[in-house]
Amino acid sequence: MKHLESTSLRALEVALRHLDAGFSDLPDFDASAPALNGIQSVLLEAAERLRDNYPYFHPFYAGQMLKPPHPVARAAYALAMWINPNNHALDGGRASSAMEKEAVAQIAAMFGWQEFLGHLTGGGTMANLEALWVAGRLHPGKTIVASDSAHYTHQRITAVLQLPFEPIATDPDGSIDCAALEHRAARGDVGCVVATLGTTGTGSVDALPEILRLRDRYHFRVHVDAAYGGYFTLADNLTAATRAAFDCIPQADSIVIDPHKHGLQPYGCGCVLFRDPCVGALYKHDSPYTYFSSKDLHLGEISLECSRPGAAAVALWATQRLLPLIAGGEFAAGLSASRRAALELATRLSESDQWVVPFPPELDIVVWSPRAKSASEASAQSRRIFERAAANDLHLALIQLPVRYFAGTHFEADQDHILCLRSVLMKPEHANWIDEIFERLNLAAS
Ligand SMILES: Cc1ncc(COP(=O)(O)O)c(C=O)c1O
Repeated sequence: MKHLESTSLRALEVALRHLDAGFSDLPDFDASAPALNGIQSVLLEAAERLRDNYPYFHPFYAGQMLKPPHPVARAAYALAMWINPNNHALDGGRASSAMEKEAVAQIAAMFGWQEFLGHLTGGGTMANLEALWVAGRLHPGKTIVASDSAHYTHQRITAVLQLPFEPIATDPDGSIDCAALEHRAARGDVGCVVATLGTTGTGSVDALPEILRLRDRYHFRVHVDAAYGGYFTLADNLTAATRAAFDCIPQADSIVIDPHKHGLQPYGCGCVLFRDPCVGALYKHDSPYTYFSSKDLHLGEISLECSRPGAAAVALWATQRLLPLIAGGEFAAGLSASRRAALELATRLSESDQWVVPFPPELDIVVWSPRAKSASEASAQSRRIFERAAANDLHLALIQLPVRYFAGTHFEADQDHILCLRSVLMKPEHANWIDEIFERLNLAAS
C-alpha cells in the first residue's frame, strides 16, 4: 500500500495463531465463520465510507490533535478483539487487567511515582472527571478553578458534579495569570486548582512551580491536566521555564494524561493518576454480581466507569513494551521531533513580514495570524487561507485568540478576538516537512 501501513497485519496473523494455540485443550467447536464474500463487500463499503476523512496519517494533515496509532498498538488492539476482554473485573479480563496495571505503573514512573493509584479511562474527559470528583469529595463545597484557556471540559464536568467552578484569566502567552490566581485563592475557598500543562488551543503550559508555591500558602489541591502535553516530559528540547513546570508534575495531587493523544494509542484511552493511593477508599462500593473471582484488585473497584476495553490496555502495554517511556529513547525522540517541527515553523513565520506569531510554541502547537490592519481583516484572511490551503491538501486548524495576545502588533482592535491559524505538529515526520508545509501555506496566502 502507498500510504497506509499494512506489514503489521502479518505479525498480527502470527500472534493470532499463537493466541489460538493457548486454548487448544478445549474440545473443538465450529467457530462458524460467516461467508467471506459478505464480510468482504461490507468492508469495502466501510472503506469507501472512510475515504471521507482528512488524511490524518499524512504530514500535510497539520490541523487538530489527530493521528493514527502506532502499528503495534493497532495490531495489539485487533489481537485482543478475538477475546474482547473487559477490564472492569478480573473475571472479564485477567490478562488485560494485569497489562493495564503494568502500563499505568510505567506512566506513573515516567512522572517519578512508584506509589500511586491510577487506571485507564475512556479518555481525557472521563479521567479529569474522576480527578475533580475526588477533589470535590476531599474539599466539599469549595471552588475548582482553571485558567480560561483550560479545556472546556472542566467547566462542564464541574457542572455535572455540581461543584462550584471559576475561570482564571490568562497571561498573553495563554498560561494562567498567577497574580489573578493568588488574588482568587486568597479568598480561602478554592479547593482545587487545575494546572494545564499543554492547553488544547495553544499548547501553553501553566507555571506549575508558582502554583505549587501558592498551594503551600492556600492549601488547595493541584490537579495537573496534562491530557495533551504530559508525554513532553520526555522531550529534550523544552525551554527552561517549560522544563521547570514539567519537573514539578510529581508534586501534583493528581495527573491526567491521554495515551490516545501523544501516546500513539487508538481512541478510548485516557489515564488518571493520584499521588495518594488512599483516595481509592472514595471509590468503595459493593456489587452483588462482580468481584467474586479473585481477592486481587479489580480495576472496577477504583474507577467510576464499569465496562472498559481491555484491548486498550493490551495496545498500550504493547506500545510501551516496544517503545519504553524513557528519556533518550525512541518514543521520547518522537516528542522532541514534533517540538522541533513547531519551533521551525514558528521561526519561519516570525521571520516573514506576512505573519504574526503572538508567542513561541511551548510544545508542538503553533498559532499565528496573517499580518493585517485590523483584527477583523486578519480573521477574514485566516479563514480564506485555511480554506485555500485545504483545497491544496494542506490541512490546518483555526482558533479564536484574544486581540490582547497580540500586544505590540498594532492590529486595530475592532473586535475582541482574532481568528488565527493553528497547527498541531504531532507527527514526528512533521519535522522533515516544514519546507513543504510553509511553501503551501504561502501559496494559500498569495
Ligand atoms: C488539555 C486537555 N484536557 C482534556 C481534554 C479532553 O480529552 P478527551 O477529548 O480525550 O475527552 C483535551 C482534549 O483535547 C485536552 O487537550
